[in-house]
Amino acid sequence: DSQGPEAYFEHLLAEDSRIEPRDWMPEAYRKTLVRQISQHAHSEIIGMQPEANWITRAPSLKRKSILMAKVQDEAGHGLYLYSAAETLGTPREKMTEDLIAGKARYSSIFNYPTLSWADMGAIGWLVDGAAICNQVPLCRASYGPYGRAMVRVCKEESFHQRQGFEILLELANGTEAQREMAQDAINRWYAPSLMMFGPPDDDSPNSKQSMAWNIKRFSNDELRSRFVGMIVEQVKALGLTLPDDQIRYNEDTKQWEHAPLDWAEFKEVLAGRGPCNAQRLARRREAHENGAWVREAAAAYAAKQSAAQAR
Ligand code: ACO
Repeated sequence: DSQGPEAYFEHLLAEDSRIEPRDWMPEAYRKTLVRQISQHAHSEIIGMQPEANWITRAPSLKRKSILMAKVQDEAGHGLYLYSAAETLGTPREKMTEDLIAGKARYSSIFNYPTLSWADMGAIGWLVDGAAICNQVPLCRASYGPYGRAMVRVCKEESFHQRQGFEILLELANGTEAQREMAQDAINRWYAPSLMMFGPPDDDSPNSKQSMAWNIKRFSNDELRSRFVGMIVEQVKALGLTLPDDQIRYNEDTKQWEHAPLDWAEFKEVLAGRGPCNAQRLARRREAHENGAWVREAAAAYAAKQSAAQAR
């Protein structure tokens, strides 16, 4: 291109096309993507823990196999995302080191405990529901490998959301104790799931630039509002309630409104002081150490194979 790589990058953004790994890109664009994609990958991997906690206690063989498959899907999502981040030049080992050293972020939501079987329902319905709401627009993210990974991830997340909703539906139509357990899970997961969308727009330092680069398509508050509008209808089908009596549709702004969220709590969780942060990181570190022999064996095998090919 006669006008140089910078103009070509701007041209691709202007026509809403995709930037691919070999294309020139501003360093800040690369850095933002590595930040977001690696955080997203870590969230999928850490997110396996709260649900894995219930695999041994799932109420039937069928529920157990569904839950195991779901937790495995999350591992798969983490792996696609690490691969997408690697195309930007940051090796997976580096991202993993940062995570286990406690230097990397992952979603606030996975620092809350899973106290009952109904939490598997609430996570599927609310947490995966929020993830879909946030991630469907990311299928159109300007960075090709990220957008393409999101397409597959969203398909699997839709299945996860339905299985969660179905768990809640069954409990809601069960005994009084089951119904109460479902309501309690919704009460505990509602506000943390709204916080998954990130801080309010006036306190979101990255949004403006990420939107200008076609990475984010909607602001944190826009997506949060859209999510509230979805679940306020869906909860009726469960015959349960959301723990928020301030939900209303504002005709002027065309946004769903909800009760104020506790952003001080959000900041505590981000600072590493949520209910389960220490436990989640300790488990991740342990798993990494226990996997050392697998990495060594895989590396030795790969070295042998390439030596054999060179002969
Ligand atoms: N949990 C932890 N950290 C968060 C959260 C959250 N829920 N929301 C925002 N943050 C962090 C941001 O990463 C940023 O910190 P950083 O600058 O150190 O990276 C800071 O809070 C300020 O937030 P924003 O300026 O709004 O950040 P950003 O523009 O990146 O928007 C968002 C945050 C919406 C989470 C965005 O990064 C995103 O869409 N990520 C991809 C989706 C994702 O990560 N999902 C994971 C959970 S879903 C799942 O895995 C099933």
